[in-house]
Amino acid sequence: MATMESLIGLVNRIQRACTVLGDHGGEGSSLWEALPSVAVVGGQSSGKSSVLESIVGRDFLPRGSGIVTRRPLVLQLHKTEGGQEYAEFLHAPRKRFTDFAAVRKEIQDETDRITGKTKHISNIPIHLSIYSPHVVNLTLIDLPGLTKVAVEGQPESIVQDIENMVRSYVEKPNSIILAISPANQDIATSDAIKLARDVDPTGERTFGVLTKLDLMDKGTNAQDVLEGRSYRLQHPWVGIVNRSQADINKNVDMLDARRKEQEYFANSPDYGHLAHKMGSEYLAKLLSKHLESVIRARIPSIIALINKTIDELEAELDRLGRPIGGDAGAQLYTILDMCRAFDRIFKEHLDGGRPGG
Ligand code: GDP
Ligand code: NA
Ligand code: MG
Repeated sequence: MATMESLIGLVNRIQRACTVLGDHGGEGSSLWEALPSVAVVGGQSSGKSSVLESIVGRDFLPRGSGIVTRRPLVLQLHKTEGGQEYAEFLHAPRKRFTDFAAVRKEIQDETDRITGKTKHISNIPIHLSIYSPHVVNLTLIDLPGLTKVAVEGQPESIVQDIENMVRSYVEKPNSIILAISPANQDIATSDAIKLARDVDPTGERTFGVLTKLDLMDKGTNAQDVLEGRSYRLQHPWVGIVNRSQADINKNVDMLDARRKEQEYFANSPDYGHLAHKMGSEYLAKLLSKHLESVIRARIPSIIALINKTIDELEAELDRLGRPIGGDAGAQLYTILDMCRAFDRIFKEHLDGGRPGG
């Protein structure tokens, strides 16, 4: 039997189609909003970019102190059966990036293209796909870090602007919240947890991640947080040890870093008993499994929305009078064909098929 496309892969394709349609995932995009994805939230320097890079197993995000992420980055991970790893941007569809340093530069340049070389933010997302045998199927959205004060060159409104942008992603009932907090700060003051509690008070769609466990004061540990006693969520907390700034400066390889992280937990007197549920590799698998099950539960409503979109496209084509030519016509027909294909494949999944991979 032919392998069925993974549900997450299918949803990835619909999300890209929505974007090509000029639908940037903002208001009024019902199809996009129906599709679940994982939004990464946390204060500046809490370790968001580091966690994303560990999940991917690659160095590819711009970094530095201060506000580095200034546009949402929609990161779609596609697990391949083998072959070379590569990345592709939606804004440059014919260009394959195999050099991840060039991916970082392109994210920077594409950010500057919209915001200029300022410290301002824009809510227009950058879409990046990574194809690799070493990733799990997953869609993650990196967002600007929450801050408390505007810095030189930023408007006073920046603090609220960032919060509003992040909130617009996490308040959608279909959004899964990856709430990043550093272990060397009191969890009660965590920006990520404050926001998550606000939009998801029961904690059913929040995954708590505790970074910087290695930077805690000697003689203290994070057992109360990791075992759910400090702040209770429906999902288990995951502890992480990312590369330190010194590791990054020394170019410590991501895969070495993952291995060191595993060793840290396995050999830790404080966390040894939790070692099998800690670390970035475990986090990636946990999220992928959860995303897949959320999508599976939503298949009927996704099919309904796809059919509504088909009806709207048919009406639009009727209004324009068929057959219509030119680029606009070709685009509408392409999207219509895609919607019909999605409808068919989702129905196969609904009929009890299991995804491949
Ligand atoms: P972001 O601003 O939330 O994206 O944070 P980054 O991922 O850029 O991390 C900010 C700084 O903290 C960098 O210098 C990282 O090397 C460092 N860092 C992040 N996570 C950890 C960790 O678990 N342990 C240590 N020692 N340093 C970390
Ligand atoms: Na940063
Ligand atoms: Mg960052």
